[in-house]
Amino acid sequence: MEDGGPSEEEVAHVSALFGTLKYLYAFSISDYFPRLRGKADFDGHEKKLRTVLEIVRAYQDPLIDERIQVWNTGARTETYDLLDILIKHGSPKLTPNEIKAQIIEIMLATIDNPSNTVEWVIGEMLNEPMLLEKAVHELDHVVGRNRLVEERDIPQLNYIKACIKEAFRLHPFAPFNPPHVSIKNTTVAGYFIPKGSHVHLSRRGLGRNPNTWKDPLRFNPDRHLVKEGKQVVLSDDELKMISFSTGKRGCPGVSLGSTITTMLLAGIIQGFCWGIPGNKSSIELAESNDDLSLAKPLVAVAKPRLPRHLYPRSLV
Ligand code: HEM
Repeated sequence: MEDGGPSEEEVAHVSALFGTLKYLYAFSISDYFPRLRGKADFDGHEKKLRTVLEIVRAYQDPLIDERIQVWNTGARTETYDLLDILIKHGSPKLTPNEIKAQIIEIMLATIDNPSNTVEWVIGEMLNEPMLLEKAVHELDHVVGRNRLVEERDIPQLNYIKACIKEAFRLHPFAPFNPPHVSIKNTTVAGYFIPKGSHVHLSRRGLGRNPNTWKDPLRFNPDRHLVKEGKQVVLSDDELKMISFSTGKRGCPGVSLGSTITTMLLAGIIQGFCWGIPGNKSSIELAESNDDLSLAKPLVAVAKPRLPRHLYPRSLV
């Protein structure tokens, strides 16, 4: 769009991706009675998923085909992004359909947690400006105001990462981890779990457990800061909270997910002075009834704070 905002197709694409995620976490009768799978779509999930996936594919697939074509004609010879790598360096070489499936997976995996986290962090910061000041101070100190934040800055952006980790703890996108099935009888933390059980770990229960976290409902990024010289990491292998989970079925995208989220938050804090809209005294930080995202989308005032030439033309 001319004003730098998303086009109608882009809005529909993102909304369809969130639609797909909704059914990843939803209760479906055929998960518990697999014989029903494919026979009767009792809860209507299959139909709904097919509809949203069609919208996702209608947007993405032509772009992927176009890029494959660019490589086939020899117009591109160097890899610039993940799609180039999937096209060029798959080993064994991936078919167009496999590339398309991988891109759907990556789009789904990278959209909910980073956007939900950043929205909550900015909301919390607007209600407690000291937190925003600390983050801005860190960015001014590490990056300055004459260039944009880059991935090489991430190891030093420990306060920004602590804010993200605190949002993962207090405001996870989904109340539960995706379900796991135990493959043998086992005992965890004193609980007997018979073989074949569906196990749902509560992200909210762990993150807000008063036996682990002091003052658990307070958004306090300082609790994640570590000794000077050590870096804050967004994963928690001890499972005191769930960010990326852990073990064989833990998230394989820790590094990419940490980078995306940190760059997103650091970029918008560095690039803009954030404020509460004039007609309000604070941001309403209520959870939605469907998931744990903000009930109402965050509305905030953003004013550029860096030299003009650092912004895309459409923004200034
Ligand atoms: C901030 C970003 C992200 C967060 C917080 C996050 C978190 C999680 C969590 C909590 C799980 C469930 C693990 C479990 O069941 O124990 C998961 C699974 C998964 N994630 Fe991520 N993730 C992020 C980004 C990514 C990215 C960037 C990718 C790949 C490009 C990715 C790929 C996956 C996949 C494939 C699984 C399923 C693993 C399996 O079932 O074996 N995630 N993620």
